[in-house]
Amino acid sequence: MPTQYLLTGLTGGLGAKVLADMLNKHHIPASNIIATSRSEGNKARFESQGLQFRVADYSRPGTLVAAFANVKNLLFVSSSERDDTKRNTQHTNVIEAAKATGVKKVWYVSLAFGGFGNGSKIGHQQAHYQTERMLQAEFPSSKSILLPQLAPPDTEGKIAFASRDELGEGIATLLAKGLEAFPSVKPQTEKNIVLLTGPRAESLVDLTSAANRGRGTSVPIQYLEPKEWIQACANDDGGGKRRGWYEARLVFLQGICNGDAQTVDPALETLLGRRPQTGAEAVERMARAETVYTKHRS
Ligand SMILES: NC(=O)c1ccc[n+]([C@@H]2O[C@H](COP(=O)([O-])OP(=O)(O)OC[C@H]3O[C@@H](n4cnc5c(N)ncnc54)[C@H](OP(=O)(O)O)[C@@H]3O)[C@@H](O)[C@H]2O)c1
Repeated sequence: MPTQYLLTGLTGGLGAKVLADMLNKHHIPASNIIATSRSEGNKARFESQGLQFRVADYSRPGTLVAAFANVKNLLFVSSSERDDTKRNTQHTNVIEAAKATGVKKVWYVSLAFGGFGNGSKIGHQQAHYQTERMLQAEFPSSKSILLPQLAPPDTEGKIAFASRDELGEGIATLLAKGLEAFPSVKPQTEKNIVLLTGPRAESLVDLTSAANRGRGTSVPIQYLEPKEWIQACANDDGGGKRRGWYEARLVFLQGICNGDAQTVDPALETLLGRRPQTGAEAVERMARAETVYTKHRS
């Protein structure tokens, strides 16, 4: 499994605060974070906090390729090197190593002269613009959401997703109060099934639109032949999921298109005492929550 975060610049003022808040305010487990420094001498101070440690020196590409292996999110704190030419080389090393090792997302700490634009003439800022352009070229935002071309089409097959939070809430209520507290919830068939679903069955197209709404994007769906879809997804998966994972996912998606997951039952609404969120509402909420600025500018 890839490690969730690799953080650079932690021995500096900004990085130290980022790390302290990730651990103490956001309660991210220390084992999910790899701390780095140019100096091996900093290993003990990070490992004593339960963090992993790797040496990463922007001037030594070999250390970067070794450090970035199997990492999902890279916090790339810009170098404190004052010579812009040297700093550009260092930053190129970081971006090339991140690309070569399959880092999923790079969060670059830039400088803010020029605001959202590229108009500042300050030399330092020009160097930061160059890094931003390189990142844009090497780590473009998704251009399309890939889906397999299936029959029946995914606009027809629907799924009555319920969120995990509301499923947990419903199950706990059922355990705590018992079925007798909910006379309308009748276990069905000889298997005594209580079916907990969302309040509406929605298509994969509805769910991708919800993700776009939550992220404020309009990324289009691109349909591929199933085999091509498996290959394209496995090639592009920075998280390391392989073909086998997508082969299983194809069976899951085919089940949805066949209508296997479209049954809606009111039991969850009864247990919650309110209408549960639909899958699309939950996806939109989660996508909005995870949408943060992809670069820090202060
Ligand atoms: N301070 C701010 O408010 C602020 C605001 C916006 C942006 N920034 C930018 O953020 C960066 C860090 O700011 P800071 O105030 O925290 O700086 P700082 O206290 O001087 O710390 C510099 C950090 O950068 C790391 N570093 C420097 N050269 C490196 C290299 N060649 N390879 C790997 N790591 C290297 C150092 O790590 P090791 O020595 O452990 O290797 C150290 O942790 C600066 O570039 C600054 O422009 C800062």
